[in-house]
Amino acid sequence: MRNNDELIGRANLNDVDAILSITNTDTESRFHDVGAEVDTRFTWDYERARPRLGKLYEKAKNTQWNGNDLPWHIDVDQEEVVKANALLAGASGLAPQMDLADTPFAKWSDKEWIEFGVESQNWTLSQFLHGEQGALVCTARIVETVPWIDAKYYASTQVMDEARHVEVFSRYLDEKLSGHYPINAHLQLLLDDIIADSRWDMTYLGMQIMVEGLALAAFGFITQMTTEPLLKQLLKNVMADEARHVAFGVLSLQEFYTQLSASEIRERQEFAFEAAVRMRDRFLQQEVWERMGVDVGAAVKVLLQTPERDMFQSMLFSKIVPNCRKLGLLDAADGWLRQRFTELGVIQFEHWEDTAEELQVA
Ligand SMILES: [Fe+2]
Ligand SMILES: [Fe+2]
Repeated sequence: MRNNDELIGRANLNDVDAILSITNTDTESRFHDVGAEVDTRFTWDYERARPRLGKLYEKAKNTQWNGNDLPWHIDVDQEEVVKANALLAGASGLAPQMDLADTPFAKWSDKEWIEFGVESQNWTLSQFLHGEQGALVCTARIVETVPWIDAKYYASTQVMDEARHVEVFSRYLDEKLSGHYPINAHLQLLLDDIIADSRWDMTYLGMQIMVEGLALAAFGFITQMTTEPLLKQLLKNVMADEARHVAFGVLSLQEFYTQLSASEIRERQEFAFEAAVRMRDRFLQQEVWERMGVDVGAAVKVLLQTPERDMFQSMLFSKIVPNCRKLGLLDAADGWLRQRFTELGVIQFEHWEDTAEELQVA
């Protein structure tokens, strides 16, 4: 088990400097290797014993799409998108509505805020791209390790989905945006933790429940907030797939967790909480400030105080929390995870619809 106090202490966002001290120092290399000792599991039990996974598999086969069919002819003017999105959000200007005197932004005009908006698009889509590759490799791992034939079938469709997601985000970045960012250090650490764990259910918890649960919420948020029609369509297509992926995690773990002891469940709670903290920390956009030559610590501290930030941050957990409740992770072990999610300020989502119900495969 992890050191409890250290883990709990990290829920505190006041220590921004500690969060920012974790950076990606390996941005030049073309590859990143993670070791793992994993058993590949064959099953000779081909009986279709899990009808809910079977239903999901049929849905997946019937709703495949081709990334080439997206409206790629649409031109994207990133600066115009920044301005139009601000208008849609009802903002009166491009700067946050707060007193910026004595901050790194005191002298910023619309020009700098537009540049920030453009870089922010490049950064966000880059992180989505890297996260999608994480989903691709994790799900290929599940095909090998999960013991149930219905889950192997379903996971194979998800591998195809994730390849398509990597492909469309990569193409969008190359053809429509103006720069790439390396993977954020917090996201990389999280993916490394998931991949390094040899237990097959931990791959699901880390990827399908936590990373993809967050992605589903983030894509939904951005679909509503963007005025760019190509990105809107792309995200709508990707989200339809992601909802199935999260439901796959919920259905599989719901069954498996009934066999675990209290101390094994507690390990899953800790894993989920650690993943939640890493995901929250990855959204500070520290690499954008670095690239723009702004004092990163000072910039982040200012932007954490904007009201939009709070709303965005907690919305990201709107899928994770109900799905953890569905899995029984909130209240097991004396409500350890409920307490942690309360401290993170995200427990209010617990009674939102879980993703298996939403897809009517529960
Ligand atoms: Fe994906
Ligand atoms: Fe996915």
